[in-house]
Formats: sequence, structure tokens, C-alpha cells
Amino acid sequence: MLELLAPQRGQCLVDCTVGLGGHARILAERLGPEGHVIGIDADEANLLRAGEQLSDASCRVKLIQGNFSDLEELLKGCGVERIDRILADLGLSSNQLDDPERGFSFQGDGPLDMRMDRGQELCAVELVNRLGERELGDLLYFNAQERFSRRIAKEICRARRHARIRSTGKLAEVVASALHVDPESRRSKIHPATRTFLALRMAVNQEMESLRGLLAQAPRVLAAGGRIGVISFHSVEDREVKVDFRKRAQEGLYSIMNKRPVVAGSEERQRNPRSRSAKLRVAERTDQPWEARLETC
Ligand SMILES: C[S@@+](CC[C@H](N)C(=O)[O-])C[C@H]1O[C@@H](n2cnc3c(N)ncnc32)[C@H](O)[C@@H]1O
Repeated sequence: MLELLAPQRGQCLVDCTVGLGGHARILAERLGPEGHVIGIDADEANLLRAGEQLSDASCRVKLIQGNFSDLEELLKGCGVERIDRILADLGLSSNQLDDPERGFSFQGDGPLDMRMDRGQELCAVELVNRLGERELGDLLYFNAQERFSRRIAKEICRARRHARIRSTGKLAEVVASALHVDPESRRSKIHPATRTFLALRMAVNQEMESLRGLLAQAPRVLAAGGRIGVISFHSVEDREVKVDFRKRAQEGLYSIMNKRPVVAGSEERQRNPRSRSAKLRVAERTDQPWEARLETC
């Protein structure tokens, strides 16, 4: 990330997913005292932790609670028009995933919440109990490419006729029963409810819509020579980033810094198993689109 994003002293960088401030802290060191980090996160609790992590950063730091899909508006609010670097490390932080109260995981029972921004009204419990069988099946299939989407949707609808599905534990049980598997005795390391939980989380937080919003605004706010780096964690997200960068490169707006995504090496995967699905893509904003360059020739 440091090599490809290559932050320079004095630059202005936006960490769109500042999380616990791990990346931002390392990047801030490179920017030096004249630099500026703007950290965005939807999750207020994470933003507080990022504040602690960045409290002794040498550069200027501004933290904003918000969604990166509002990037241009959030920057306007800070009086910033052009930026040099954008980083988005998509998805959830480990503390969000591991806290049963947040309802993101089937490991440990908790309420079916799944909101990154706890000020938002829509929770997973509403989707699970209110969507029709067909809509539920589509959601599982299109968001997470769940092969057994129809079977799972049918079983969810059957189970909720008896009682509302309120907890992560109950949902995981319903999915396992739809697929006739006992998660405890499975040979595969992947829990049968993995894709169902991913698809619901993506819907609750409108993750694809937010990513598309960020990708659309990035070329408008990046200065010439500015770079955007996106770390994605599943194929649907990665494809969106890849296709967007390619399209902008054809328009002459970006040059792609790495044709193949950067992935974690075996040592990193062993140390941090959650890095196994991470893919980093970086693009650089060219100075002008081709049409404008031709006009000036
Ligand atoms: C993988 S973590 C980032 C961890 C961070 N890079 C670090 O070093 O600590 C993703 C973070 O992005 C936030 N997030 C995800 N989607 C978001 C969005 N659309 N807008 C704002 N924040 C978002 C999550 O709340 C979470 O804190």
C-alpha cells in the first residue's frame, strides 16, 4: 500500500475508511508536519479509536463521521477542493466483526443489527423478516453469489412464520438447516451462513452503492498525479474497482498502477488470516483527459 500509494511530504490524503487508524497512522508519518489527513468513517465508535491512534500524529488530522459515498460534500465541508491521495480499505474492522452486539457474525449470538452507522434506521432484522422470498433470494445471489440462495430464502420464510428471526444465532441455524449441514461437523472451514451474512451486511449498509459513489467522485476530487487505492475483500467489490479503473483509463483519466491486484503473501496470511481475501488496486489521476489534451495540441 505504501509503495503503490506513495504518499509524499506535505500532501493531503483522505482515508475513507479510517477504522481504528492503523493505515492512517502509517500514512501520516509519511506526510510530515505540512501534510493533512482527513479520516472518514461511518462508525462513530471506530472514529473515536482512530482519534486516539492519531492523537500524536505530526500532520494535521481531521476526522469526520460520514459515508464515503458523500466524499465531495464532506470535503467541501472541510474547505478542501483537491486531494492527493485516497485510500479505501473496504468492509469491516475486526472489532466490528468480533463484537456479537453488532450482529455482523454468526460466531457468537447477538441481535441481527449489522449497521456500521448506528444512527441509521435500517437493521438486518428488518430485511430478514420483511423481504419477500424472491427478494431475499435475489439479495443473497446478487450480493454474495450464494449458490443456494433460493433454498435459504425459502427456509428463512418458513422459519419466520413461526417466530420472528431476531438473532444471528437463529439465522445461522436456519441457513444450516436449509443446507442440511451441521456447521460443527463440517469438513469445510467455511461456515454455511458466511455468504448469507455477507449479503445482508452489504444490503444493510448499501456497500456497493457507496463504493460506486466513491469511485464516481474520485476522479473529480483527485489532483493531477493524485492516486486512489482500494482494498477489497470479495470478488463483487474487486470487480467493481477493476472495471471502474479500466473505464477511467480508457477515458484518459487514470493510469493503472498495478495490472494485477496486490494480495497478501503467505507469511501475512498466516499472521492475519483475514488478509487472505484482500486485494489492493491503485490508479493515478492523469493531468487531463485525452480529449482535452488533443484540443490543446
Ligand atoms: C477494514 S476497516 C478499515 C481499517 C483501517 N484501515 C485501519 O487501519 O484501522 C473498514 C472501516 O470502514 C468503515 N466503512 C465501511 N464502509 C464505509 C463507508 N461506506 N463509509 C464510511 N466508512 C465505512 C467501517 O466502519 C470500518 O471502520
